[in-house]
Amino acid sequence: MMAVCWLSVLILTAMFANYQTTTSDSSCKKFHAKKCKCKEDMKQRPMFQCSHLGLTEVPELPKTTFFLNLCHNKLEILRNGSFSNFSQLLTLLVAYNYIQVIELDAFRGLENLTQLVLDFNSLPLSAKIFQKGVFLPLTRISYLSMRNSNKAMKHNFKHDLIQFRSLNTSLHTLDASNITSVKWTRHIVGLNNLKILDLSYNLCTNIDKHFFANFNTLETLLIGHNLLGSLIMKDVKGKLLRNLHFVKKLDISHNSISFIPSKFFQGLSSLEIVDVSKNFLQTANFEIDHMKKLSQLDFRENLLTSIPANMLRHLHDIDSNNISIYLENNPLKCVCDDLDFLNWIVNEKNRITFANVEKTNCKFNGISRSIRDIKLVINALDKHCANYTIIISIASLSFAIFIIITITGLIYRYRWKLRYFYYMTKSRYRGYTSLNEHDSENYQYHAFLSYAESNLRLVKFTLLAKLEAEGLHVCIHHRDFMPGQPISANIAHAIHCSRRTVVLLDDDYLSSYWCMYELNMVRMESIYSRKGENILVLVLNEGIDKCKLPLELMDIIHSNTYIELPQDPQVIDASGICGRIKDAILG
Ligand SMILES: *[C@@H]1O[C@H](CO)[C@@H](O)[C@H](O)[C@H]1NC(C)=O
Ligand SMILES: *[C@@H]1O[C@H](CO)[C@@H](O)[C@H](O)[C@H]1NC(C)=O
Ligand SMILES: *[C@@H]1O[C@H](CO)[C@@H](O)[C@H](O)[C@H]1NC(C)=O
Ligand SMILES: *[C@@H]1O[C@H](CO)[C@@H](O)[C@H](O)[C@H]1NC(C)=O
Ligand SMILES: *[C@@H]1O[C@H](CO)[C@@H](O)[C@H](O)[C@H]1NC(C)=O
Ligand SMILES: *[C@@H]1O[C@H](CO)[C@@H](O)[C@H](O)[C@H]1NC(C)=O
Repeated sequence: MMAVCWLSVLILTAMFANYQTTTSDSSCKKFHAKKCKCKEDMKQRPMFQCSHLGLTEVPELPKTTFFLNLCHNKLEILRNGSFSNFSQLLTLLVAYNYIQVIELDAFRGLENLTQLVLDFNSLPLSAKIFQKGVFLPLTRISYLSMRNSNKAMKHNFKHDLIQFRSLNTSLHTLDASNITSVKWTRHIVGLNNLKILDLSYNLCTNIDKHFFANFNTLETLLIGHNLLGSLIMKDVKGKLLRNLHFVKKLDISHNSISFIPSKFFQGLSSLEIVDVSKNFLQTANFEIDHMKKLSQLDFRENLLTSIPANMLRHLHDIDSNNISIYLENNPLKCVCDDLDFLNWIVNEKNRITFANVEKTNCKFNGISRSIRDIKLVINALDKHCANYTIIISIASLSFAIFIIITITGLIYRYRWKLRYFYYMTKSRYRGYTSLNEHDSENYQYHAFLSYAESNLRLVKFTLLAKLEAEGLHVCIHHRDFMPGQPISANIAHAIHCSRRTVVLLDDDYLSSYWCMYELNMVRMESIYSRKGENILVLVLNEGIDKCKLPLELMDIIHSNTYIELPQDPQVIDASGICGRIKDAILG
């Protein structure tokens, strides 16, 4: 594509050399246009090299001319009828001139022309220049190149491809690259034989969703070096290129693409060569499994650290048995996470070629290693990753243990609170009357008497009798607990439904599980249901060894007054203890 003019010149010069020996007579000799160089082919048709001659007009040449090179001259206008005497011309090269105007009938008479090269002129891309019908006489044109035609207008980005509407259907190749056509908005029709379309280097940012709808025969689409990144990223459903079923080569390199949606290529089932190089791809997660003939995938100069697992799977599934992948100049990583990828490179070596391996590097332990030494890297990595796995396992195990300990600790710390709320919730759920309101005298009992088994007699025959004689409702577990309910639920309920809880503390009480349970439930009730009101009436047995008391009890004893109970039951009667307990209950 680049400098098609030069290429053609070269080819034709080569042909020249071949036919030179046969140059003997006629056409060229008859020709007197001094400066142009003339050669003949085997059929004695003349071909003319008229480049670098400073020409301002198309020279008069024999009607049999089949090749004309007018590159590097000073043509400014292609006038009506300039080529009317060139009915047998096949190739016309007018690159590197100063053409600004092409009159509507300029190409009249060129009905046999197949190749027209207008590269590097100053053609403004306007409807005035590429008037509708200007290419109409070129009924056999198959190759049209107008690369970089609007030098003079390079800052005018408003044009689109309206000009191509009039192209005859025989066109096979169209090179409209570097013409600063920034928007491809038209619904292009009439290019029914087009195989190669080059629209690269156009600063294009937007393509109409119907633009590619009618390119039914296209095989090569070159749209690299544009600014299509954000358009491509948004094409999640793959609509843009959906109809290009026969495209074998697609170049979308250098388009500032940072992400290709997984379905972007979905219609392109004939793709063989995909060039996405020179973009900002950090991952390559697009679908390729429908590209049965894929042979080349070019990821050069992107930001890939590896190839994701599902693309590896797709590449594995594709039947094609010679796929080349280019990964040069990507920040590939040789890390434990990518070990699968690296092993894959080794395993697929016979089917998938990693091009330029010696120049493809990956970072291992901060050092750049060539993919060529991949086996060494994998060996080193295998060891490294084994350690890594152990470290990870230990770390996760420690973490799990830490979490378990923390949770256990928390449960232990709040065990009483949790139990309390558990029973409260449960009893409410069962329809016990809620005593939330606690307008003081609404309790079922005045007091709940909590005591150790050994004190049963004392309670039953002394305290209980006395208190009930005074008209108090007292709850004791031997008598008032609801049969059939768990003890713990009964305790919680009794505490909750009593105004006060009287605890008879002695050594037996301290060593009984349920007694301590009751004591703690009282604390919880006080904190969470009674707004911190002291509902505990402590009655301490005289004989108790205070040094043996658990810490939490010491706290309670120190911050509350308590009633001391004489050891001798006879004294109890006399001491007026019952009166003090009653006062404490009602107080
Ligand atoms: C075409 O050729 C005829 C004679 O062969 C000549 O008179 C005429 O000027 C030529 N036209 C051009 C545009 O060269
Ligand atoms: C060139 O030919 C077209 C169509 O025949 C005509 O409309 C136009 O005026 C001509 N231009 C000149 C400069 O003669
Ligand atoms: C050029 O085209 C004319 C008709 O337009 C045709 O008669 C002639 O054979 C063609 N010449 C070549 C070499 O194809
Ligand atoms: C294109 O050229 C063919 C002959 O090759 C002709 O029949 C057809 O009418 C032309 N189409 C247009 C739109 O000029
Ligand atoms: C595009 O055109 C500019 C001049 O307008 C030129 O400098 C540049 O080399 C061209 N690029 C290509 C790839 O042809
Ligand atoms: C695979 O294709 C590459 C070029 O794409 C070529 O150089 C190589 O020779 C091919 N290998 C086989 C086994 O066909």
